Parts: sequence; structure tokens; C-alpha cells
Amino acid sequence: MSMRQRCDATPAWGQLRECFESRGRYFDLRAAFAADPGRYQALSLQAPHVFADLSKNLIDGPLQATLTSLAQQCGVAAHRDAMFRGEPINPTEDRAVMHWLLRHPGTDLPAAVQAEFAQVRQVLDAMLAYAQAVREDAAITDIVNIGIGGSDLGPQMAVLALDEFVDHGKRYHFVSSVDGHELSAVLRQLRPESTLFLVASKSFTTLETMTNARSAKAWFEAQGGRDIARHFCALTSHVQAAAEFGITTTFGFWDWVGGRYSMWSAIGLPIAIAIGPQRFRQLLAGAHAMDEHFRTAPLAHNLPVQLALLDLWYRNFHGYTSRSVAPYHSGLRRMQAYLQQLEMESNGKRVDTAGQTLPYATSPVIWGEPAANGQHAYFQMLHQGSDVIPVEFIAVKKVAHGLPEHHHKLLANGLAQAQALMLGQQDAGGHRHMPGNRPSTFLLLEELTPASLGALIALYEHRVFTAGSLWGINSFDQWGVELGKVLAQNLEPRLLSGDVTGLDASTAGLLQRLRG
Ligand code: F6P
Repeated sequence: MSMRQRCDATPAWGQLRECFESRGRYFDLRAAFAADPGRYQALSLQAPHVFADLSKNLIDGPLQATLTSLAQQCGVAAHRDAMFRGEPINPTEDRAVMHWLLRHPGTDLPAAVQAEFAQVRQVLDAMLAYAQAVREDAAITDIVNIGIGGSDLGPQMAVLALDEFVDHGKRYHFVSSVDGHELSAVLRQLRPESTLFLVASKSFTTLETMTNARSAKAWFEAQGGRDIARHFCALTSHVQAAAEFGITTTFGFWDWVGGRYSMWSAIGLPIAIAIGPQRFRQLLAGAHAMDEHFRTAPLAHNLPVQLALLDLWYRNFHGYTSRSVAPYHSGLRRMQAYLQQLEMESNGKRVDTAGQTLPYATSPVIWGEPAANGQHAYFQMLHQGSDVIPVEFIAVKKVAHGLPEHHHKLLANGLAQAQALMLGQQDAGGHRHMPGNRPSTFLLLEELTPASLGALIALYEHRVFTAGSLWGINSFDQWGVELGKVLAQNLEPRLLSGDVTGLDASTAGLLQRLRG
């Protein structure tokens, strides 16, 4: 860990401050394009499966070079290499961070992770054989994933995104919230003999998941269901806890797979059932291709690194507080939810790895909707609101839906929005004035396939890693979610008993109203 240097302790940080004061804060995209005809070429990058146009961001070559030297001086490369050697780079939990190993083909692996890789391969083969058997089992028509956070968002996002590759002989349901509306709405559609419940929980203790799993099991038994081994499967790193719950069909994973980085592990089983083993392997291969890009490309041409540097530039110098994700593909409609956990649970931290309070901001708020809808809702604010919000467009060149006219209109809209954000509308006065100069990044996939989705998600994972590395934080713990869980445990019995002793007046008042 000693090789890490916090961003504000580097010479580049001071240089960036000077650059920002002298010209960064006055940077004008329109002037930058006029001054440099090669700007688009110079500021675009091709990574595996993902092309990125960074030229509508508030940087130029020299600024990008100074940002890149910040990454060098912070020791991002050494930190990254430590992750890829399997070192325990999650210091507060003393764990390695090896989700990348889940998609590794096995060649040229460091000796230190060979044993883990053998287990990875064993579980992957077993899980994919199981997925294939489920696919071939016509009697199973409904797959119900019960899980939350990382045990829900990745699989759900991917199954929706890869709809074109999904076996439509089965229906896929995702139950995450402890809100009984969710489970009961799904149960209403099911018959026990044709349902497979996947209970997905790394810890196998999460309140929402355990409550839903217990209720699902009770429903199954009440409906006359008997064969738990056939109709319930656990995906967890606590195999023993699953057995105690009564589930014997289990696929395991390891503490070095963070929940929000776990869709490549047994947690990906719903994806594997939906798209099949071969395509699941393509998803892994796409992610691995991005791992290799991150591991080997020079920092100046390394897409995750460059995106993270832009995040830092906007957050810590321009003071922008959020980033809007704008997918121009309805299959990516859970992307922003997935990214909210990935980015904000990873980098929503206010102390460095040594526990010192940081003097600068970290994760931006990530938000958005499929952008064709967003355009008719909140894009007004993106164009004319008082906050500048960098936008990340995600577009797909080729689609298979057979309605080319729709796709042209969709793409034209994506391009137009990015253009409008940048150009603005200078000559229209008053309420029609649009300041422009609003930054955006344009990510482009040739097609939305298992491989390109894998690469896109791995790109985001490594961007989050890099931003966390620059900020000097631990991107791999989530202590901030624990307090609410503890307090809920205290309040649940009080909702029944009405005991408000020792509670603050607001919580006590609301609790009494909820009982009344
Ligand atoms: O409460 C947050 C969290 O721990 C996430 O980090 C995790 O993805 C989610 O809950 C679900 O956890 P588990 O997979 O252990 O049920």
C-alpha cells in the first residue's frame, strides 16, 4: 500500500490547481474545437469493444497530460498491479480484490492466485453445466432471483441488456426489496412445480433476501412443493448458511469478490441461464479484454484511467457534484441503478485508507434514465439549469430489432443532445438562451453483445478503481450501510410493541403514527 500517494500530496495536484485557475475554469469547448481541427482524433480512444469520444470534455492535450501525470504520481499503476497480483488491497477488511480472476482464461497467471483460479474454474464449469440443464428443462418456466444490491443489480441489468440473446421459453423475475409488494406480485404468477428460486446473497444474512427467501420457501411448501433441491438454489460465499436454511444445491464464491463486483461469479447464474453457457463465457471474455487493456495500456491511452481523471477534474476542480448516465438503448435501462451501486458504494467515502478525513470531495452522484425518455424529462435542467452536470452518453451502432428508422432517430437524438449541450444557443435571448459549453463523454459500442457488455462493465469497474486510487480511499468496503441495518433491527420490534423509550422525538412520533 505504501506505493499509493494521495492525489493532494503530488506535485501534479498543484499544477492542476494552477491550470484550473489560469485557464481550466474558462475553458470553452467551442473555442477548443475551432483552434484544433485534430481535437476529435486526439481526444478519442478505442478500448476493447468500447470507443470513447472524450473531445467534448473540458480538457485539451496539455491538461490531459497533467491529469495523466497525476495518475502516475499517485501510483495508480502500482496499485492496479497489486490488485492483479492478488494482494490484499482492501485494507479495512484485509481482503484481496480479485473479481478480475473470475473472467481470466488462466494463462500467465501469478503463482499466488493459481489455487484460487482452480476453484474459480471448477465452480464456473459446474454452474454453467447447471445453467444448461435448467435451460433444457422445459418444466421450469420461471426463474426467480432473490437478492439485493450486488446480488441483484448486475444480473438484472445484464439479463435486460442481453434480451436479444435470452431464451424466451422462460420468464425471469428479480425480487430484491423487503417490500412485500414485490414478492407477492411475482408469486401470483408462479406455480411451484415450474419455478426455480435462486437465493443470491454473498453473506446469506441480508435481511431483505433472507425474509424473501423464507417467504418464498413457505409459499412453495404451502402450495404442495416438496423438492427443495430441485426448486431452490443458493448463490453465496456462505455455503454452510445456505445448508442451514435448507438449500442443498449451492454455487459458492469467495470473500475476495466484492458484492458489487460479483456478477461474474455464481451470482451471474441467472445471466447464464438466460443467455446460455457459451454466451456467458463471451461476457467473461469481453470483461477480460478490458482487464487486459486496463492492465497494459499506457496511462495516457488507458480508457478507465482517462475517465477517472475526468471524474476527478470535474469533481475536485470544477466542483460538479453529479454525472448523468444517458444510455441510448432501452436494454440498458437498469444501467444507472447498477452504476449507482458500483460507483457510489465504492467511492462514496470521506476518509482515506489511513482513516484521515479528506479535504476534497469524492464520488459524484450518478443518476439517469434511458435517455430518449430523459430528454423529455430532466434534460431541460442539463441544458439550462444552474448546475453543470457532465453527461455520459452510451450508444450502440448496430441493433437487431428490424426497425432501422427508429434507430436512426434514436442515434440522431443522442448526437444532437451532446451537440446541444456543447454548442448551446447563444443568439437567442432571455428564456431561450442556452449557455452551452456543457461537457459530455460519448461511449459507443458496435453492438450490444455479451462480450461488449462485459467490456463496458469492466471499464466502469476499473474507472471506479482508478478514481478511488487517486482519491486515496478504499473502494472495496461499505461500512456506511451498516448503521441503518442495526437501527432497523432495533426499530422492528418497537413497531409491534409501541415502545419508544430513548428514541428521538421525530422517530418516536413517526413510529407512533405508523402504529395508529
Ligand atoms: O448493504 C449493502 C450490501 O452489503 C451490498 O454491498 C451488497 O451487494 C448487498 O448488501 C447484498 O449483500 P449480500 O449479497 O451479502 O446479500
